[in-house]
Amino acid sequence: MENNHSPSCQKIVFLGGGNMAEAIFAKLSTNDKFKIEVIQRNPDKRARLKELYPNISVYPSLDYPLAAEDILVLAIKPQQAKDACLAIKDKIDNCLIVSVMAGLAINNLNSWLTNARIIRTMPNTPSAIQKGVTAIYYPQSITAHEKATIDYIFNNIGLIYYAKEEVEVDKILPVTSSAIAFVYYFMEGMIDNAVNKFGFDPIDARNLVCQVLEGSVGLVKANPEITINELRARVTSKKGTTEQGILTFERNNFQQIIGEAMQNSFNRGLELAKEFS
Ligand SMILES: NC(=O)c1ccc[n+]([C@@H]2O[C@H](COP(=O)([O-])OP(=O)(O)OC[C@H]3O[C@@H](n4cnc5c(N)ncnc54)[C@H](OP(=O)(O)O)[C@@H]3O)[C@@H](O)[C@H]2O)c1
Repeated sequence: MENNHSPSCQKIVFLGGGNMAEAIFAKLSTNDKFKIEVIQRNPDKRARLKELYPNISVYPSLDYPLAAEDILVLAIKPQQAKDACLAIKDKIDNCLIVSVMAGLAINNLNSWLTNARIIRTMPNTPSAIQKGVTAIYYPQSITAHEKATIDYIFNNIGLIYYAKEEVEVDKILPVTSSAIAFVYYFMEGMIDNAVNKFGFDPIDARNLVCQVLEGSVGLVKANPEITINELRARVTSKKGTTEQGILTFERNNFQQIIGEAMQNSFNRGLELAKEFS
């Protein structure tokens, strides 16, 4: 398989070429500083990747050795991790490893790979449009030069949150990862009711709700000195229409429901981590 990059390029190998891997390498694949290789076992998915990303090399399995200066990104499902790691264990020569997998601790990965240089990350789906946020935990063994390379990769797909301890990578799941679905759930409720209760056309309702979200976030970002509580108060006149809606949320303990949803999501992450480790 050919590639057009100079030998001085940073090689990044993705084990698993699914949604998250693609979100990370899509933009990088057009950057001459990187040589992207993707290990994808599914032939149809391999064919699609080759067609969409002519600059990357795609292989069915990792049958070749990686050098210490290469980067290996583990982008398979947590339940696929143990078998996949054990299968490549002898090919990786202490290269830098970046896991994007939810739940699996460095200790687990280390026991399957016997590699001391493992970085944990937790990106989210808006990374596919460079609007993501990635939590990154760097163990002490990672050098400043390596950190700069990994920061560069994840800065390409959005913001970085530097986790101070590994557990923050797990704690961020309900805050930035599952949270995407939580926001969609709220949007679905708004759109369905705009259509079914108030008779709006579904496409108009979708566009209106999207604009409301963009506008709300835009105002928060444009006014960093004003609390969100104050911004809400400014739209909520006493005895006005908005107040009736907010009181309905309060009567039904909406904040508490959000808290429970986040806690249950986090707890499920811990259960799954136990199951797959
Ligand atoms: N998607 C998200 O929102 C998100 C967010 C943050 C983190 N993550 C993490 O990212 C990881 C990947 O998620 P994803 O959504 O990208 O999953 P995905 O779309 O299923 O991608 C994984 C791909 O890896 C392939 N694969 C599995 N084992 C392999 C092996 N041994 N060799 C080669 N290819 C292999 C799978 O092939 P098959 O189809 O044959 O199984 C699949 O195409 C997960 O660990 C997840 O926790 C995902």
